[in-house]
Amino acid sequence: MKIKMKSKNICCIGAGYVGGPTMAVIASKCPNYKITVVDIDSKRIDLWNGDLHRLPVYEPGLKEVIDATRGKNLFFSNDIDKEIRQADIIFMAVNTPTKTEGKGKGMATDLRFVEKCAERIAKMSLSDKIIVEKSTAPIGTAKRIKEILKLNSKNIKFEIVSNPEFLAEGTAINDLLYPDRILVGSDETPSGKMASKVIVDIYKHWVPENKIITTNLWSSELSKLASNAFLAQRISSINSLSALCDESGANIKEVSRAIGSDSRIGDKFLEASVGFGGSCFKKDILNLVYLCKFYGLNEVAEYWHQVIKINQFQKERFSQRILTILDSDISNQTISILGWAFKKNTNDSRESASIDISSNLLKKDANLNIYDPMVKSSKVKKDLVENLKNQGLSMKEIDTKLLRVRFFDNINDSIKNTDCIAIMTEWDEFKNINIDEISKVTSKKIFIADGRNILNPKNIESSKVKYISVGNSKF
Ligand code: UDX
Ligand code: ADP
Repeated sequence: MKIKMKSKNICCIGAGYVGGPTMAVIASKCPNYKITVVDIDSKRIDLWNGDLHRLPVYEPGLKEVIDATRGKNLFFSNDIDKEIRQADIIFMAVNTPTKTEGKGKGMATDLRFVEKCAERIAKMSLSDKIIVEKSTAPIGTAKRIKEILKLNSKNIKFEIVSNPEFLAEGTAINDLLYPDRILVGSDETPSGKMASKVIVDIYKHWVPENKIITTNLWSSELSKLASNAFLAQRISSINSLSALCDESGANIKEVSRAIGSDSRIGDKFLEASVGFGGSCFKKDILNLVYLCKFYGLNEVAEYWHQVIKINQFQKERFSQRILTILDSDISNQTISILGWAFKKNTNDSRESASIDISSNLLKKDANLNIYDPMVKSSKVKKDLVENLKNQGLSMKEIDTKLLRVRFFDNINDSIKNTDCIAIMTEWDEFKNINIDEISKVTSKKIFIADGRNILNPKNIESSKVKYISVGNSKF
């Protein structure tokens, strides 16, 4: 393979939460590279090219990086074929959701988007290229991409490199600027190693060399799934203990602090919550489970599957606690849902606990006031419709349920005169809910269900407020 060691033309396919911020940071740190991000969704590309306040992805610090690079060495384009042809390096950052039909439904990763992408690259390319697998994919995907490229191209050589993304949404720019590590997996052949070096050279512009790990392709692919599985496992572990705290009178925050102080355990990712969300954890663990089953490792599969089951349990448990406390006819009661994003500082709601919990409440005919500072009401509606549909409700039933939902664009109106305030996302503005103000305008007893443990129970001791949190409320 003729790899140009000075390859400076990068194309990224997929202008989403991964592709957009990642390419923006590479562009800002590598002014000598030209980077073009393409997408089949032309509206998304228009938004990336438009007003900085309306970028399709919300991330603190993103608009500043886009402002500094867009039109200089960072471009967003709909002309996918042209950009594929011109690039020396192609990053694949397309979506890899869980399969909803066919073999492995509900568990295996749907590689349709990756495969389509590979076919297009093969068809359009006129020169040798390095293909970088950025999207999280099951191990063996690089092999699959290789097969597709070989089958569809005419004597052009492609080298596949796996370079998984470890950024977390909400802190993407910081994570990209100061990564714990960069992982680059490649074939162990001379051309594979050369391709790996080309990708390592990009990151060396700003990442210290001792943080750049090179491995074989399979290790790199598995490490991404394994990292997410370990992180999610910590949350499910602490959430499982939060249930025990709620029953026994122990306080999960104290327990979390006590165990996290052991340096072998560490204090990160031990915050009890309504359950983890996001586009990665559930999908990647299911992917791992599917892989283990494929190899006949049923005990290993079950071990990891339990992480997902506890997460589901936690969401059900939270909905049930709200229903138990509200007790009387729920159809006459209104619950304020504060937060739709799966965590703060993002407009992403994929797999957000809010969706499941709100659907559970709607199914019981509760009335909901929904507010999130970043997620649009059209997206909330779409999420609800999809979730209720998956639970077997007809469109007619869903429309009736949606009549019970009201959307708000500010917190104050959304919590006025409601029976329960349920905090789902840890947005900073929810930390300062003014209980005294609410007490003044309502005659009812206010019930607060703090799904993120962000309020200080000491500040809300009042005869007019009933407060429950996660893992600190025996009732
Ligand atoms: C995750 C990984 O952190 C990242 O490395 C990978 O590249 C992609 O998946 P992300 O999904 O963006 O990132 O967010 P993360 O910060 O990991 O949070 C995931 C979920 O766990 C959120 O819903 C969050 O609120 C929840 N969480 C996190 C907890 O409930 N408790 C915690 O202690 C930490
Ligand atoms: P992620 O969080 O992994 O970045 P997103 O869904 O935010 O996921 O982004 C993936 C993007 O990839 C979407 O904007 C989607 O339109 C785009 N995409 C998917 N398949 C293709 C394809 N074959 N060609 C170009 N873009 C694609």
